[in-house]
Amino acid sequence: MSIEQRFDVSLIAGMALKEKQIQQNYRPIIGVHKWFARRPGTLFRGLMLAEFGEGRLDEVFFQSNDFPGLCIADPFMGGGTPLIEANRLGCNVQGIDVNPMSTWIVREEIEHLDLKVYARAANALMAALRDEIDRFYRTSCPHYGDADVPVKSFLWVKVLDCKACGRPFDLFPGYLVAKNRRHPKNVLLCPTCGDLTEADDPKNPGDCATCGTALHQGGPAHHGRCHCPHCGHINPYPGVVRKPLDHRLVAIEYHNPKRKAKHKGRFFKKPDAEDLARMADATRRWQQMEPRFVPDEKIPTGDETARLHRWGYNRYREMFNPRQLLGLELSCRLIAETEDERVRHALATNLSDLLRYQNMLCRYDTMSLKSLDIFSVHGFPVGLVQCESNLLGISNRVGLSVGSGGWSNIVDKYVKAKRYCEAPYEVRQTGSRKIRIPIEGEQIGESRNGTPRKVSIRCGSATEYKFAPDSFDGVFTDPPYFGNVQYGELMDFCYVWLRRLVGKDAEGFNRPFTRSPYELTGNVTEGRGLERFTEGLSDVYSRMVGALKPGAPLVFTYHHNRLEAYCAVGVAILDAGVVCSASLPCPAEMGGSIHIHGTTSSIIDTVFVCRKSGTTRRTWLFDSPDRLVEIVSQDLTDLATTGRRPSHGDTRCIVFGHLTRIAVWKLRETWKRSNSTTEKIALFRAEMGSYGDPDQLARRASPSEAMEDLPLLAQKPNRIGEGVPDVVPF
Ligand SMILES: C[S@@+](CC[C@H](N)C(=O)[O-])C[C@H]1O[C@@H](n2cnc3c(N)ncnc32)[C@H](O)[C@@H]1O
Repeated sequence: MSIEQRFDVSLIAGMALKEKQIQQNYRPIIGVHKWFARRPGTLFRGLMLAEFGEGRLDEVFFQSNDFPGLCIADPFMGGGTPLIEANRLGCNVQGIDVNPMSTWIVREEIEHLDLKVYARAANALMAALRDEIDRFYRTSCPHYGDADVPVKSFLWVKVLDCKACGRPFDLFPGYLVAKNRRHPKNVLLCPTCGDLTEADDPKNPGDCATCGTALHQGGPAHHGRCHCPHCGHINPYPGVVRKPLDHRLVAIEYHNPKRKAKHKGRFFKKPDAEDLARMADATRRWQQMEPRFVPDEKIPTGDETARLHRWGYNRYREMFNPRQLLGLELSCRLIAETEDERVRHALATNLSDLLRYQNMLCRYDTMSLKSLDIFSVHGFPVGLVQCESNLLGISNRVGLSVGSGGWSNIVDKYVKAKRYCEAPYEVRQTGSRKIRIPIEGEQIGESRNGTPRKVSIRCGSATEYKFAPDSFDGVFTDPPYFGNVQYGELMDFCYVWLRRLVGKDAEGFNRPFTRSPYELTGNVTEGRGLERFTEGLSDVYSRMVGALKPGAPLVFTYHHNRLEAYCAVGVAILDAGVVCSASLPCPAEMGGSIHIHGTTSSIIDTVFVCRKSGTTRRTWLFDSPDRLVEIVSQDLTDLATTGRRPSHGDTRCIVFGHLTRIAVWKLRETWKRSNSTTEKIALFRAEMGSYGDPDQLARRASPSEAMEDLPLLAQKPNRIGEGVPDVVPF
């Protein structure tokens, strides 16, 4: 049996969607370190078990499996999702990524760590750090008069000097500090005195409780313009700036452990003179230091980093305030003193991950009342109000973390991640209950219950590797989605710190930055367009296919909202000499956007299954737009069992997936690899376009119970244990 016959869209889509909503509960291994746009582990487990497992997919999924001797490769390893799933299933694995941070992270995920030794070192580090800097994260509680309570978050607003009168003023986009979701009332900041007032109705918040100024949610800074409150001049922002704008501390959210039990909601305050003095102390302390670990690197230009330059950030260290730099430098010093190399590397990984919460680009989510880390979107969004979290983190009386973004949070999730490696589990939903099912016997690591497995993790461009024929039983991967994420540009933010801390010996760490001309992403700054992407993907797929055992699959996920980006995929498949035998839909990103109808955003990936020889289902081969609409409607019906209705953008992506598959099928016999890339893309584009406008096709498709009755799709052979589908060999 194979993926084409056994994969169950409804079963896996349901699990993948749930996983992506709270991925750390389903795959805690992601807590080792951030990687961008990780696909669901449940999806790759489902795919591998459909290919290699025996028995019903819904049963084997929750059982212990072991495929010793199978070798699985991933040429675009990233955070390692497919590789880790294969390793957990007992396979030998071979992973490559051009980004040295990926290599570092996947090694950290797989390499064994003595958790007791790690926990001792992490606690010692946090204790030493507390002695040095805890006092800078304290405040007094104006509600109950308690002194020295821990700060959760400091909120800072950007300040601009007026071009007309020269005086500084705040760039407030709005005055709402907290919404009444996780706090009983809405908290508004007064534009005149800066005090905080709690209001029931944010639209009619009344007057400031302190100075009587009429409160309002909206602030003066909008669409890059803000009037100066002193002279009325309308200033564009950021304007032409040589350095980052200053910030002014405007609000604090703190924790009062003594009062928490009886207090309703959170604790907010306007900063007082002591809070400002603490910051001034931290700044002085920082200025007296000779930094050894804070990076000095300039931020290179790029598609994503251009925004940083526009806002005056020229060096990475300028993205942090003095208190953050002090805490991070001291953390690095303590880590560097750790003797045990394995533990030192683990703590260095923690520091690298901590950075994304400890910089002055983090924003405060007024709804969930927590920091949004710098990578909460795949870019460097520069906000007007920034959130500085407590660098140490806060633990309550029973040792559980309060708040987010500090050392204690990072250590907690790292421990959970490494525990999961030793004892992985799956989560089964029964009605509204989620049951955690230990999968005894499976493990993530270099050995399984003492028996070694091969793990090869390499840093380099997959376009540069040669593999012997018949090496792989499968290639499971998640390639770059054209220009969707600039991996190198983003990861450099962490890398410049990690490299300074651990040195240049780790594989790939001899490079000053992680960005590489070989990175297979569209990038305007580097002049890498669709053709480059197509050629690179084609090269990698050809190499991987050349190393597959006969009939073994190349399986990859993909989505993009532009049809052209699928042409690259189609050309690469055809150049590699394989046929696409299935295109399966699966949710692979956060479910938030799935309700958004009429938009082009999508959370649905297509899983492309490709082989040199094998079979495809007869029902999947189509000649007419009507038939395509039926197939897409069937997918929507299968996805509807997840309880979410795909958006128009999702449906479009499903259409693109099937169009790619069928275009490969139609062009495979006449394909000339030697044609120019431009010609090949144009030919593929024309074939995909021959069924009409994908938007219209997507609009015509809809989930339907009646689909069950349609003759060609009636057998629904991808459902668990149901009949064997009618297939066409190739
Ligand atoms: C979509 S991500 C993979 C994500 C991964 N599956 C995960 O779970 O985190 C694509 C990866 O391809 C890598 N990449 C881009 N160009 C490459 C190349 N020429 N060779 C190897 N890896 C490359 C990027 O660095 C990125 O990590």
